[in-house]
Amino acid sequence: MKRSFRWTVAGALISGLVFVTTGPISSQEVFPEGKGRDTLFLVCTQCHALNRMTEARFGADDWEFIVYDMISRGAPVYKDDIEDLNKYLIDNFAIEEQ
Ligand code: HEC
Repeated sequence: MKRSFRWTVAGALISGLVFVTTGPISSQEVFPEGKGRDTLFLVCTQCHALNRMTEARFGADDWEFIVYDMISRGAPVYKDDIEDLNKYLIDNFAIEEQ
């Protein structure tokens, strides 16, 4: 009885570890490394979830507009970071415009 309990605990710990290590990896796939990602994570999470970005269907022009739109709503993006953020969003999330 005692023995099988120990194994249950070990199993729970191992699956916990797997969960912890796969979590960040899958989010890196959605948000690839790049200039602008830090800004996105720091700034754009303040008012809504990041799946707004992954689910959004915007072209390059729209993304540029959205960044300024968010800034006008109060998103605190440094002036020097705007270009990198725009580029990051466009490179990773812009769709082809018809
Ligand atoms: C000051 C709060 C705030 C911050 C910070 C903010 N947003 Fe938003 N965002 C909003 C609001 C308000 C809306 C529209 C209302 C809603 O649907 O939640 C919105 C909506 C959006 C949408 C959906 C637009 C649409 O037309 O469907 C996108 C995409 C978006 N934000 C991207 C960003 C990005 C990228 C950043 C980082 C630069 C950011 N947001 C930071 C407040 C914010």
